[in-house]
Amino acid sequence: MPEPVKAASRSELAPGGKKLLDVDGRAIALFRVNDDTYYAIDDVCTHDGGPLAEGDLEGVEIECPRHGARFDVRTGKVLRFPAIEPVAVHEVELRGDDVYIRIQD
Ligand code: FES
Repeated sequence: MPEPVKAASRSELAPGGKKLLDVDGRAIALFRVNDDTYYAIDDVCTHDGGPLAEGDLEGVEIECPRHGARFDVRTGKVLRFPAIEPVAVHEVELRGDDVYIRIQD
């Protein structure tokens, strides 16, 4: 199992905030959806590769800026066409003031 990687400090993202990360060449989008809840998913839309961290985050839904597909950042599940396949979700761990993610295959 891969080691967790520091992704951000907790104060770095405001509630509703996003951060794009590069973890060993893999683009990861980190979201803070409310006061102290963070989620991480691949930054690549499963429809046609759109950059999800550049989309609008509403609650736990991220909208792909390219063609408007929506995903649940908690589960990666598709909520709106044209995407069909879910996006990969990565484990998030809070350690003191830091946010760590563990990349899942
Ligand atoms: S690339 Fe994301 S909806 Fe098309």
